[in-house]
Amino acid sequence: MINAETQLYGIVGNPVRKSLSPVIHNGAFRRMGINAAYLAFEVDDIEDVLYGIKGLGIQGVSVTLPFKTRVLPFLDELDALAEKIGAVNTIVNKRGRLIGHNTDHLGALKALEAKVDIRGRKVILLGAGGAARAIAYGLKKRECQVTIFNRSPQKAATLAQELGYLHHPLSVLFDITGDRLDADVLINATSVGMVPHEAENPFPKWLLKKGMIVMDIVYRPLRTQLLQDAEDQGCETIDGLQMLAYQGAAQLEIWTGQCPDGEKIKTDLRKTLEMEHRFKETP
Ligand code: ATR
Repeated sequence: MINAETQLYGIVGNPVRKSLSPVIHNGAFRRMGINAAYLAFEVDDIEDVLYGIKGLGIQGVSVTLPFKTRVLPFLDELDALAEKIGAVNTIVNKRGRLIGHNTDHLGALKALEAKVDIRGRKVILLGAGGAARAIAYGLKKRECQVTIFNRSPQKAATLAQELGYLHHPLSVLFDITGDRLDADVLINATSVGMVPHEAENPFPKWLLKKGMIVMDIVYRPLRTQLLQDAEDQGCETIDGLQMLAYQGAAQLEIWTGQCPDGEKIKTDLRKTLEMEHRFKETP
């Protein structure tokens, strides 16, 4: 029950009306017995928002597009890896000091490691945007051998040079034939395949090999074209709900010091996405 002691959390971004973060956090708070509520704030001016967080004593916020980078100059403290990634998706309010973290790399590693030990593995990473940057830094912690493919070659080059990875333009993938691509793990960190472009796949089906682990961070739809093709080719798949759930679980741990039940978060998310899907199909 919301009362005078309820602590407030939320997500700040624009747009956020379709965010699944309130589903993650409100469900977890209830199960953890924490008197807190989590709301979505669709905002324009991030500097004003941060004053508001301090002024109202909001305990913590998730940060999403387009503010993950823009928020940096206004924080009092920055976690070292968030600084290197150059993006913050979590802010904790510690007695009026706003501290920025990035839990995307933790979420990605947890999602992968639930399926496979990725230490030292050969990984193909598609994308060089905010999410890809976080994942690339996470993979470095496990000493993976990473090749980045991105539509904009310069962004791929910048990220690859920071971490000592290889890089190529995304378009070259479609010129590769036969067995010339050697990878244990493929991660799609682009937005290709997301609604309303569900039929698109950023990776050629003929390069998907049996036994490869294929993770997509897109979760609308949950079974992307990439994951369908990967299943057809005998790959192991990890859907976008996994990273989403685990990055949220890591936020809850930063805010409360307690570890939420990741499986229950996933159940909440799956139910919500299924309901969305059914609602869309109803004429
Ligand atoms: P996020 O924070 O979710 O990663 P982002 O920083 O905008 O969002 O990054 C989106 C990623 O998807 C980028 O790698 C982008 O490629 P560019 O760097 O060339 O922009 C990639 N992307 C988006 N639409 C794409 C498309 N139609 N084809 C290929 N790549 C695409």
